[in-house]
Order: sequence, then structure tokens, then C-alpha cells
Amino acid sequence: MLTREGLNDLVKEKLLGYLFVVVSNREPYIHAFSGRKIVCQVPASGLTVALDPVMQACGGTWIAHGSGDADREVVDKDNKVGIPPEDPRYSLKRVWLSKEEEEGYYLGFSNEALWPLCHIVYTRPVFEECDWNTYRKVNETFAQNVLDEVGDRKAFVFIQDYHLALLSRQIKERNPNIITAQFWHIPWPNPEAFRICPWHEEVLKGLLGNDLLGFHIHYHCNNFMDTVDRSIETRVDREKYEVTYGGKKTAVRHFPISVDFEDIYQESQKAEVVAEIERLKNQWGIEDEMVGIGLDRIDYTKGIPDRFRAIDRFLEKYPDYRRRVVFVQAGVPSRMQVAAYKKLNEEIETLLEEINWKHGSMGRWKPIIYLREHLPTLTLMALRRMANFCVVSSLHDGMNLVAKEFVASRFDEDGVLILSRFTGASRELTDALLINPYATDHFAEAIKNALEMPEAERHKRMRKMREVVRENNIYKWAADIISELVKFEFGE
Ligand code: F6P
Repeated sequence: MLTREGLNDLVKEKLLGYLFVVVSNREPYIHAFSGRKIVCQVPASGLTVALDPVMQACGGTWIAHGSGDADREVVDKDNKVGIPPEDPRYSLKRVWLSKEEEEGYYLGFSNEALWPLCHIVYTRPVFEECDWNTYRKVNETFAQNVLDEVGDRKAFVFIQDYHLALLSRQIKERNPNIITAQFWHIPWPNPEAFRICPWHEEVLKGLLGNDLLGFHIHYHCNNFMDTVDRSIETRVDREKYEVTYGGKKTAVRHFPISVDFEDIYQESQKAEVVAEIERLKNQWGIEDEMVGIGLDRIDYTKGIPDRFRAIDRFLEKYPDYRRRVVFVQAGVPSRMQVAAYKKLNEEIETLLEEINWKHGSMGRWKPIIYLREHLPTLTLMALRRMANFCVVSSLHDGMNLVAKEFVASRFDEDGVLILSRFTGASRELTDALLINPYATDHFAEAIKNALEMPEAERHKRMRKMREVVRENNIYKWAADIISELVKFEFGE
């Protein structure tokens, strides 16, 4: 198993003399006002959950959009702040965007066009020329920040996700010596789906500015290669998984992202977690009921309504379970300015009311407890530990780290994971109860199977899943990417 120290040693050895720069839209720590006080929050983002430990091991600079209302209060004259605040190990350099830029680049092209384009969940993408223009301009702003940060040093720039598809090309046009890798955290669809984007060629050419391009699974690499092959003049080498465009070679590889297994494992055993479980049970009046959990950003790709419908069907078919099971759904509000997200929030509230009314009793019990808020890490850890089962029912998901966090936290080797087949995680966590979230009856049966699974089988399955996540942790993910990049750049 590769540790944080192991990654640190690898970085020192392989990237000696190189500045390590991560670039993403979302920042790993957000400073926000709480009354007159400034608090530091960790956002609900798998990307930042995964990369923060990597940056803590590697050091360097993380460049991201400063989105917190108190972000400007804590930075120095270069817009930087040491992170994590209590024990700084790297610099966070904040990029400021105007409301109009945020609207066109983040809400518009990133989340109304690319997000639904890449997730096949039947939400129609919206393509607006003005959003595309703003997206290009904001990518330029990030490029300028990277170039300023690097100066004439040797640098390895690691770009994250679909918000910054044009960045590597923009950087290399002005400083071809910078090495860039990009990781695409969401699925890559097939060519037919992708080519409806009016600017699909520009997006592809932008991504082919990278030396290395990473996806979670092999299937997304193949989809990307097929899309490139059918869209632009390139040389696609399917043996070596390389694309050559305009004389420049890009290696395409899959690297399944993960979590800091050891850290979650240790943290979840702390006494505070037990106290928090007690507090939550008292607050919700939970006594002997079995507990299911769902922990998500409120996003239409996560299949939250489908999950509620399955709970409804389960209680319809097996009414004996009323008052014996409670499902806690925690949801962090997200991208609320986008119409599809507003609609989803309304749908969830309506379903919740209907299901709780239909199955609830006059007493204290109701089947679903819904927490529509950003919960502290301690509460999330308590929820994972008190759960008899955890549901991840994404309709389409690049990886899904909620599933891996659940597995990492179960040091007691207990608890059942119900996992959608349409997540990248389902390729590795084959000992979960795999479901099709669209098939409500089958999903309802999986809930029953989770509740009735014999203890020995629960342990066996959880043990196997823990081995997978322990071995393939976030440090291995980062080390594999760095080793691959070094191979291509320095011919090692
Ligand atoms: O994991 C995909 C992703 O889009 C990340 O890039 C992002 O940080 C996360 O989901 C959460 O979304 P957002 O940053 O829009 O809140």
C-alpha cells in the first residue's frame, strides 16, 4: 500500500526541481463569513476530497476560483493563503471571477452544457454562444495565473476536470516547456453524444494540448479516442493509446481515483464519532431501527428521486419493515442557479412529503429523514458508522467517492453497500450489491437483501471491498499519474 510519505518520496525523486501546480475550478478550502467570524469550509466535491491529501504530500501551488465570500480577507498580496490553515503544507492561489464570468463559464458552459453532455441522464444540454465565449475567456484567465505562477521555473501542471478543457493549449502556446496532465473527473460519452456540442472540435483540440489525459475507466478512454477519431484530423494509435494532433502527442490512460483510506480508517475510530452517533440518534429518536444512508451533492446525476421511489416500493411490498428502518438522506445544495437543479430540489421535496405521509405513523417514526445542508465531517463519519447500509444510486457517475469513503470508514468490516452499476466505482467494488437505479422493483429488492444479509456474508463482502480501496488509494492514483507522465516526458 502506498502512503502519503511514499508519494512524497516519489515526487522528490521524479519531479526534482519541478514546481508542482494543480489547477481546478473548485477550491479545496473555502473561507466564508458566519456572522462576523470567518470560517473555513471543505466543499462537497470528490475532486477536492481526493486531491487535498495529494497536495499535502507533494507541496506546491493549487490554483482555483476563490468562491467564498470571505476568501479575499485571508489572502496575501499574491492572492495566496497557506493550506490547510492550521498546518499549511501548500499554497492556495485564488483566481477572482466576476458574477458574469461565473454565470457564463461555471453555471453556463460547464454545468448547463458539458455536464449534461457527458452524463447520460436524459437532461438536455444547453449550448449558448455567449457562455462558450465566457468559458474561453475564463480559461485564459486561469492560463495567465498559471504562467505568472510558473515564471521561468520548470513546472508540472496538473489540470482538473471539464471546466478547464482549453487550458493546456492556452498555456503551451505561451510556454511550451510546461508539462501538463489533465484528469477528466466525469464520464466521457460516445462520439454520437459528444458531437452535438457545437464547439466539440475546439474542446477536443484544447484537451489535446496535454501531454497526458486521464479518465477513471478504460471505457471512457475508448470513448474519447473514438470521439477524436471521428471529429478531427489526428493520428490515433490504439495500441499505445496515444493521439497525435498538430505534431503533438497526448497519451490517454485510465486511473481510477480514490480516497485516503488510512486517514478515513483512523478518523472513523475516534471516540468523538461514537458520541456524535449518540447525539444524532437522540435528536432523531432512533432506537432499534436499522439505518440506511445516502450522502450526496444534490445533483440530478445522483439518482436521489430514484432512491426515494425504491424506498417507497420496498415499504409497499414489505410493510413489516415500517417503523423498523429509517433512511437518512444528507444532500448538499449545489448549482441552484441552474434550472435543472431547481426542478430536482422541488421533485425531491415533493417525493419526500408523499412517501413520509404515505408510510409514516402518527408517532415519531417517518421513513426518510432529509438533511438538506452541508454537514460537518464528524457528522458524516457518524452517519457512515451507524449505517446498516449505504446507497449510491447514480444514474451515471465518473467514479463516486462516497462509495469508497463508506468502505474505508467501516473498520468493523460491517455494513452493506448498494451501488449503481453506472458508476466507475462499480468496476472495482464488485462485492457491493450492484443495482440498476432505473429498475425500481429490483432496487427495492436490493434494500431488502441488504437488511437481511447474513452477518458472515456482510463481513466477507466488506473485507474484500476494503482490500481494494486500501490497495488502490489516492496516493497510488497520484503516483501512477506522475510515473506515467515522467515516462513520456523523460523517456524513463
Ligand atoms: O467531480 C466532478 C465535479 O464537477 C468537480 O469538478 C466538482 O468540484 C464537484 O463535482 C462538485 O461540483 P461543484 O464544484 O460544481 O460544486
